[in-house]
Amino acid sequence: MENNMRPADMQRINTPELAQAFIQEQLEQVRAQVGNKKVLLALSGGVDSSVVAALLIKAIGKQLVCVHVNHGLMRKGESEQVIEVFRNQMDANLIYVDATDRFLDLLAGVDEPERKRKIIGGEFIKVFEEEARKLEGITFLAQGTIYPDILESDGVKAHHNVGGLPEDLQFELVEPVRLLFKDEVRVVGKALGLPETMVERQPFPGPGLGVRCLGAITRDRLAALRESDAILREEFAAAGLAQQIWQFFTVVPDFRSTGVRDGKRAYDWPVIIRAVNTVDAMSATVPEIPWAVLQKITGRILTEVAGVCRVLYDLTPKPVGTIEWE
Ligand code: XMP
Repeated sequence: MENNMRPADMQRINTPELAQAFIQEQLEQVRAQVGNKKVLLALSGGVDSSVVAALLIKAIGKQLVCVHVNHGLMRKGESEQVIEVFRNQMDANLIYVDATDRFLDLLAGVDEPERKRKIIGGEFIKVFEEEARKLEGITFLAQGTIYPDILESDGVKAHHNVGGLPEDLQFELVEPVRLLFKDEVRVVGKALGLPETMVERQPFPGPGLGVRCLGAITRDRLAALRESDAILREEFAAAGLAQQIWQFFTVVPDFRSTGVRDGKRAYDWPVIIRAVNTVDAMSATVPEIPWAVLQKITGRILTEVAGVCRVLYDLTPKPVGTIEWE
């Protein structure tokens, strides 16, 4: 593996022209590295792995095998978008694994946040390993490692979770965006023709909605979380807020509250809206959202999402509150 340090004179990739030049250079490098061998990639649908997939599809076509594991904790429409963009539009070799039941069965009754994270990360490796073992002739493993991953964590991208593969599945790595910062990866992604909604995606934890469905995950609360999150995203986009706010999502706690619906007493879940602005996620502020936007979102969640009788907006900056709730 060549040098993992960004050369001091490396130009910041911030125009489509520079992105095209980078892409041409990487196409040659990848082809030289891989030859006619096969490459495996865990494709989560996040910015980094999507950009690596698009680049490798261009470089080596069907020699790339993408595996998308749906752990059942994806946001609404995300796995569908991965299939649409990569299989249908880019004609990629894509293996789609719906492992929802496996993950949710394992997580049933588990309420401790770190255990939830461990289970999700561990099971992800297992599913990916099983798929890798079914394939023959894989020589390389592609990863969406980016420069901050190398600087901060020895190149081990925690949320990709493929660092924990067993000895006999240690492939040679292909990491074409390893010297790029996040904003540069986005510029390259756009130049590769990836949809705006994929390239501009805000950070999403590897454990997905699992850490926003507080306590022990249940299917009813997970559904309420996914639907309310989709409404929030739709309404923030419609109000022109989506590109202005760094990260936003909903949270569903594991306690109920009293409500009245159709003249009858209800005992349903609250939904908490979380929205933050930050530079580095170490500290964060809470933006002022126009009252009318909050009211509209509240109204939609209360009428469209089953089992919800209350909507709250979290005003807590970080510190003291972390961005995620658990
Ligand atoms: P906190 O909650 O610590 O979050 O203020 C800071 C940023 O990290 C994201 N986050 C995670 N990302 N796996 C990830 O890949 C995780 O387990 C995880 N937990 C938090 C969070 O969304 C925020 O952007």
